[in-house]
Amino acid sequence: MSMPKSALGRLWIGRIPLALTLFGLPYAVCTSGSRPAVLCSSSHPIRTSQTLRSITSSHCSLSTTKIWTMMSSPVLHVKARCSQYPGSNVRRCPVPDDKVDWSQSWPEYAPVNHTSPVVEKKPVWADPDIGSFSPKFNTLDGNVDRTSFERVYEVRDGKPLNPRGRTGVTGRGLLGRWGPNHAADPIVTRWKVDAQGVKMHHSVSKQPILQFVSIMRKDCGEWAIPGGMVDPGEQVSLTLQREFSEEALNSLSASPSEKEEILKRIIKLFKSSGFQVYKGYVDDPRNTDNAWMETVAVNFHDESGNSVSELPLQAGDDAGQVQWVDVDSSFPLYASHSYFLELVARERKAHW
Ligand SMILES: *[C@@H]1O[C@H](CO)[C@@H](O)[C@H](O)[C@H]1NC(C)=O
Repeated sequence: MSMPKSALGRLWIGRIPLALTLFGLPYAVCTSGSRPAVLCSSSHPIRTSQTLRSITSSHCSLSTTKIWTMMSSPVLHVKARCSQYPGSNVRRCPVPDDKVDWSQSWPEYAPVNHTSPVVEKKPVWADPDIGSFSPKFNTLDGNVDRTSFERVYEVRDGKPLNPRGRTGVTGRGLLGRWGPNHAADPIVTRWKVDAQGVKMHHSVSKQPILQFVSIMRKDCGEWAIPGGMVDPGEQVSLTLQREFSEEALNSLSASPSEKEEILKRIIKLFKSSGFQVYKGYVDDPRNTDNAWMETVAVNFHDESGNSVSELPLQAGDDAGQVQWVDVDSSFPLYASHSYFLELVARERKAHW
């Protein structure tokens, strides 16, 4: 099984910008034109939009690979200030680190107003423009959950403010909802076993190895956790199960009756109480001052190996691969997804 072509470049390239970013110079990084364009810019494509699936340019998405820790504590968002707004020619108004927080007065702040034409066409997953409707913020608004996992966010001039601060763009960009846009990431794991069913241990760490279900994104060929957006009125637990089932089952060359059996097992596993890995803000390149990504990542673990562990996932054709992949720090994933897996490995006392 070969790695995506970008894997090596990604690991290699991730180190240089890191140093710069840590010293508070994200713009030296984001505006650098010499690096190759990055294929995947966001970890949760909005599934109903073809346009969103084919975003091909974000100069920022690789540069933060190793500093994901900032997501777990309310530290400065970086991708959300990335110079080039994904899928557009829009350049964010540069926001220096010391002006990210809304509490810092900055009268000269002149963000770009940008809402993607895709969103303005009012697809089912998007809100209308503010003015033509009055959403209720910080609460359940009809079927749409506008509460934030972070805290009660401020609403200024009728528009919600990003709880992590300024981004250099107002409007919604590529995001459908004013305020939080909720996603869910199911992390399904099993122990790696040998032909006799005995747990395998890593040669260096000596710890047992976990495997998780990973999908290859069709838009850009990068491996990811099979997450997706929470539909209006949908329980997150159902989103987790739905996204996983769609991805895992669609890839199978199994008969309808076999698929039914597999679906039964999936439903059973997702009914068990998973380990909640993360819940909160996602530093996503699509975020704006008024719209941002939040996610819930939950680990469902098949300890005994007799449930979904038996899912006959295979390396199929190039398109839409689904695989059991060893949980290991060297596997190239989105920064956020890698961070989630690290937490899972720690929780299950597994190799990382
Ligand atoms: C921002 O742009 C949208 C169209 O994309 C427009 O409807 C809205 O009035 C603009 N808002 C401001 C504050 O200029």
